[in-house]
Amino acid sequence: MLTTTSMKSHGCGEITKNEIGKEVTIAGWVSAVRDLGGIIFVEVRDKSGLFQLVSDPKKNPQVYDIFQKLRDEYVIQATGIVSQRPEETYNDKLATGYIEVYPTAIKILSTAAVLPFPLNSDEVGEDIRLKYRYLDLRQEKVINCLKLRHEIVKTIRDYLNSQNFMEVETPILIKTTPEGARDYLVPSRVQPGKFYALPQSPQIFKQLLMVGGIERYYQIAKCFRDEDLRADRQPEFTQVDMEMSFVTQQDIMNMVEGLLKQVFRIVGYETPDKIPVMTYQEAMDKYGSDRPDLRFGLELFDIGDIIMNSNFEIIKDTLKAGGIVRAIKIPGIANYSRKEIDDLTKLAISYGAKALANIMYLEDGTAKSPVLKFLTEEQAEQIKQRAAAKPGDVVFFVADKPKVTYDVMGRFRLYFGDRLGLIDKNAHALLWVVDFPMFEYSEEDNRYVSVHHPFTMPNLEDIDKMESDPAHCRSIAYDIVYNGTELGGGSVRIHDGDIQKRVFKALGLSDEETQEKFGFMINAFKYGTPPHAGLALGLDRVVALLAKTDSIRDVIAFPKNSAAKCLMTDAPATATEDQLRELHLRLTVKTN
Ligand code: AMO
Ligand code: AMP
Repeated sequence: MLTTTSMKSHGCGEITKNEIGKEVTIAGWVSAVRDLGGIIFVEVRDKSGLFQLVSDPKKNPQVYDIFQKLRDEYVIQATGIVSQRPEETYNDKLATGYIEVYPTAIKILSTAAVLPFPLNSDEVGEDIRLKYRYLDLRQEKVINCLKLRHEIVKTIRDYLNSQNFMEVETPILIKTTPEGARDYLVPSRVQPGKFYALPQSPQIFKQLLMVGGIERYYQIAKCFRDEDLRADRQPEFTQVDMEMSFVTQQDIMNMVEGLLKQVFRIVGYETPDKIPVMTYQEAMDKYGSDRPDLRFGLELFDIGDIIMNSNFEIIKDTLKAGGIVRAIKIPGIANYSRKEIDDLTKLAISYGAKALANIMYLEDGTAKSPVLKFLTEEQAEQIKQRAAAKPGDVVFFVADKPKVTYDVMGRFRLYFGDRLGLIDKNAHALLWVVDFPMFEYSEEDNRYVSVHHPFTMPNLEDIDKMESDPAHCRSIAYDIVYNGTELGGGSVRIHDGDIQKRVFKALGLSDEETQEKFGFMINAFKYGTPPHAGLALGLDRVVALLAKTDSIRDVIAFPKNSAAKCLMTDAPATATEDQLRELHLRLTVKTN
């Protein structure tokens, strides 16, 4: 379908050879002016592409006068007959590179000041691009990300609609949220001293929609979380949020696999019919991460049993105190200098390790290491066997609390995947991670907190561990992981009031606190609740990964920077005295 309006007959990129000899009217931005002294070429750009206009003073002096006034980014409208370009001037890079128009009429619709940065240059800093995001959007790379996003969202809606899902909007001004990040609060004017929270996700509402009998819900939902920002985290972001009734974990996984198949087809990747599944524990043990990047190997392995028989007392003490040891073999780096190895130790320490041990397997068949003195020859040989180490390889290991060991070794593995160029940038590694723990201990809060959220169903085999051994109680929660990024997560929900009460208790919430925070929800569950489960995909992450860009900022029309600031509008901004008074607020900080 042509993008015809009363001001244009065709989009610039829509004109084809079929229009040769016909009159067209185009409108758009001047993207380049080339004055060849006597003849002027102008490239016009709109959303659909580029088209070349030419003016020759001998053919049409009035039009030529206007051509002389044209500057980059002026908005113009031109009418003329499409003609074939002389063959020697064909431009193969342009879809319209073999045709052009000598306008019979041209109008300047809007002039343009000189832009604060040149378009389509790789040299421009992100801050200035974000400050003038509306100009940034004119760049092909940026608009292409938004086009891809649009196509992905359309595909998602089409698929879920075809599966009998219903899109329902849920409120933005809400009470509380169970996701565990910090809330954004909105003060109420009419209820002095009270605040709405912005939703960290539609979690509560989608569950209540299931109580309401909706059975299959989805929403392209805005979520708000006040947390530390990274390349894959924004304070406001979008989820593809789903919930289904009368389903098991497997039903949700099947549905999401069907959805991802359609989405990945957009970029030409045919996903496997069954995405591999790994337990959380296996992911941690082998990759030190609950979102392992399976595009390369370098698997971790345990040498705790060998060390327990050795004289390596410091590590034995760590293991006896509940710690673990994990090792990794990095091939072909035994020629690293002392300094390079020292730098790796510093790196591991910066990741949180206390120390990093290494064993270098030299080309002459011997091993060199500051830790061999703690090991018998047999123990050293056992480690070499377990690592399947060859001359040139280096084995590194860390012993610490499980969380620290996994985290350090997981990051160390990623570091070497990158440094040794082991990651095939064209590979696609999708993975389900299942059997997440139900709780993790928060040193900060001095109590167990939910790994997913408090409405997640515990694994029924582990249900009594909620009281006796919360750290080892598994939940029915699952994440979908792609190339080392968590694309989405979800769980089977609790639909039984007694189990829900036990979970709140395990979380250290008193009956009053539970009632105050989630009373309406517990109440709702009294009136006939279907078993239900769901998942939410991070849409921004899906688009960024498919667009092969490092930051989700690139696929959000108006993103915030890493300080949660909108550089274009300068939000967040100060409030006036009057606004504060109306909201019954007094500031304890000075703003300007
Ligand atoms: P969860 O908290 O795992 O689950 O979020 C789901 C997905 O949302 C994306 N995501 C983010 N993307 C960008 N910026 C952020 N700050 C950010 N935080 C999360 C991630 C993540 O996998 N209500 C549950 C889902 C459920 O149980 O159904 C939830 O929100 O890709
Ligand atoms: P020494 O140099 O004699 O003190 O030996 C200690 C060796 O053990 C050093 O190489 C340390 O890097 C290593 N080491 C000590 N504690 C740990 C730990 N928690 N994890 C890994 N290696 C350790």
